[in-house]
Amino acid sequence: MVRRKPLVVVTRKLPDSVETRMRELFDAQLNLDDVPMDQAALVEAVRTADVLVPTLTDRIDSAVLSQAGENLRLIASFSNGVDHIDVASALNRGITVTNTPGVLTEDTADMTMALILAVPRRLAEGAQAVIADKDEWLGWSPTWMLGRRIWGKRLGIIGMGRIGQAVARRAKAFGLQIHYHNRRRLPTGIEEMLDATYWDSLDQMLARMDIVSINCPHTPATYHLLSARRLKLLKPEAYVVNTARGEVIDENALTRQLEAGELAGAGLDVFEHEPAVNPKLIRLAKQGKVVLLPHLGSATLEGRVDMGEKVIVNIKTFMDGHRPPDRVLPAML
Ligand code: DGY
Repeated sequence: MVRRKPLVVVTRKLPDSVETRMRELFDAQLNLDDVPMDQAALVEAVRTADVLVPTLTDRIDSAVLSQAGENLRLIASFSNGVDHIDVASALNRGITVTNTPGVLTEDTADMTMALILAVPRRLAEGAQAVIADKDEWLGWSPTWMLGRRIWGKRLGIIGMGRIGQAVARRAKAFGLQIHYHNRRRLPTGIEEMLDATYWDSLDQMLARMDIVSINCPHTPATYHLLSARRLKLLKPEAYVVNTARGEVIDENALTRQLEAGELAGAGLDVFEHEPAVNPKLIRLAKQGKVVLLPHLGSATLEGRVDMGEKVIVNIKTFMDGHRPPDRVLPAML
């Protein structure tokens, strides 16, 4: 008897090499136009597929999952974060969920560092001034476009997992003093290597930092972790950088504080209602108070191919009857 290949529905366009390998291994239904699927299309996908490969732009909630067909046994997400999936519902239905951890650590840490530099050193404004139509740049001047030095400043990292630690390694080399808040304290050896100071009280850490970087996942426990109250604890000269998930910061409160001059600036690669961006943030970006990026943290060809490879390994291992390496477990949520 010929075993049929599993029907793998992929919701977005993936790098060519990943799609080709998927076609070789599976009965892969690809989305060559890259048009995001609406909820009806997602429902159709979960009804028919053996494996669903969603990305962070697909909302796989309990309503979608309630329509899942009997064949759907695996959701192999092309993403590190899994906040777009109701994982508890999936697990209750006996559907395994996997993600792609580890392979986007360095790229995301690079982008975090880029924002840590970009906002205090006014990179976006400077780049714009050079190419502006009007004569905005008249040559070097002792007092024009002064930013703030980052060497010697205190960086508070919220979430000291793989990405947080990769940010800390980079930031240490730039002369920043590393502080962090995490659910669990790091082993002493890692703390010593990073010269990192642990704060079990996030409130106490925030009040003392010059730059705060969000590097934790979005879970029910971290939703609005930087709430209006906590944002008020920051010094008016402080900067906030977020390459994790928009939902971790109360974006309206952040915007109000930036408008009121109660914070020096922010660098945001993610937004609370992505892809929608608060028009007030766009106004602040035009005034040079914030740098906004379109969720580019993991956007390297190498990173995206590695993510695809992980998805394939997870599917193949699962289909061969083994535990896939990147299972999302309830304890991680
Ligand atoms: C992820 O995979 O969760 C990242 O946010 C993509 O950049």
